[in-house]
Amino acid sequence: MARIYGPTWLEFLVALSRVAGDAIAQRWFTRHLSSEASTFVHPSIRGKTCIVTGPTSGIGLETAKELALAGAHVVLACRNVQRGQELAAKWAQESGRALSTEVRCLNLSSLEGVRTFVSGWKARGGPVHVLINNAGIFNMGAPRRETVDGLEEHWGINYLASVLLTLLLLPYLAQAGSSRVVMVSSMMQELGSIDLDDPNLTQPESYWSVKAYSNSKLAQVIFTNALQRKLSESSGINCIALHPGEALTDVARSLPRFIQRLQKHLLSSILLTPSQGARCTLFVATNEEVIKVAGAIRSQQYRSGPYYFSNLEPNDVPRIARDEMLVEELWASTLKQLDLPADPLSKIKFLLASPHQGLG
Ligand SMILES: NC(=O)c1ccc[n+]([C@@H]2O[C@H](COP(=O)([O-])OP(=O)(O)OC[C@H]3O[C@@H](n4cnc5c(N)ncnc54)[C@H](OP(=O)(O)O)[C@@H]3O)[C@@H](O)[C@H]2O)c1
Ligand SMILES: *[C@@H]1O[C@H](CO)[C@@H](O)[C@H](O)[C@H]1NC(C)=O
Ligand SMILES: *[C@@H]1O[C@H](CO)[C@@H](O)[C@H](O)[C@H]1NC(C)=O
Repeated sequence: MARIYGPTWLEFLVALSRVAGDAIAQRWFTRHLSSEASTFVHPSIRGKTCIVTGPTSGIGLETAKELALAGAHVVLACRNVQRGQELAAKWAQESGRALSTEVRCLNLSSLEGVRTFVSGWKARGGPVHVLINNAGIFNMGAPRRETVDGLEEHWGINYLASVLLTLLLLPYLAQAGSSRVVMVSSMMQELGSIDLDDPNLTQPESYWSVKAYSNSKLAQVIFTNALQRKLSESSGINCIALHPGEALTDVARSLPRFIQRLQKHLLSSILLTPSQGARCTLFVATNEEVIKVAGAIRSQQYRSGPYYFSNLEPNDVPRIARDEMLVEELWASTLKQLDLPADPLSKIKFLLASPHQGLG
């Protein structure tokens, strides 16, 4: 029997209209929010270490910049190290202050790239207060592509690589005493489904870039929520997913140039700016109220969330993401796909005692 968990046609159509409606009306839904992203950074972030993936473009760039300006120690985890260095220098120059930044290479196109980043972190040492999994791709309109690991790209990069990074960094997140994992997902998760037997979408007739992207975003939310409920309160780690809003970035860079230009003209009046798109991430990464919500979800073993919406309100996740059987099956299947032990969390305390041990 195929183990596919997906929306019904009706649910799919409702989700499609919800996503379209959000894109059109999001400026209205968020009209009470200042356009200044810095408003949403809590000052307690000063001096804390924040790793931001994909800090060289779009939402991640604005996120990393605002955190650095607020006095956090920002680790720009990027594949284009030179671009990362140029940006860090530019932000310092523009602000006329010395900012605390560090550029490290992270290439999510292979699982090996993630492991290399984490070995580098192990050698460096030190706690991680905030991990922001922001990097992501949307090969809009493009045919199916695979990573060097033979994984469908959205599944491999958006989902598996981000989850591997999170799991391997857990010892350093635990070391912080109080820390957060922020998963930048998307409302398009509502269109997603999980095929446990074929997460790589190997059937050409079943491939559609929108589905592949949505599936990876749904899996991100399910895993992040599961991690929140599985980690003990004493770990001090809180894991929160979010929808940043539809922002005008380079995320659809696979589209032909003229369509991208057309899109910029047509959509610039309804989409958020990248800076507005960073508001939710900054809020979730630094605000104290978010920790209370996440803590309550854990202690009550509530099945929905934590998942924040672009209006900065906690939201429910789709029906599929609340299916306890799917959650456990996806959890187990993910660890298997990543070649990690089935119970990686039990190792955390032990790992703290000996910082040179890894998770696998
Ligand atoms: N924009 C939206 O409307 C929207 C809506 C919902 C959710 N999101 C989510 O928000 C996040 C940020 O997207 P964005 O709109 O800001 O897109 P973007 O402008 O394309 O930025 C994506 C970032 O991810 C990095 N990245 C991509 N593939 C990578 C890889 N293999 N290894 C390392 N880094 C990689 C990119 O690096 P380079 O700079 O080197 O290319 C870039 O910095 C994504 O997770 C996206 O799914 C966006
Ligand atoms: C990232 O890794 C992939 C797969 O190993 C490789 O093909 C690509 O060139 C790398 N990208 C960068 C910018 O290093
Ligand atoms: C995904 O595809 C790759 C090869 O294409 C394969 O090695 C891997 O096992 C697949 N994952 C699953 C869970 O089917």
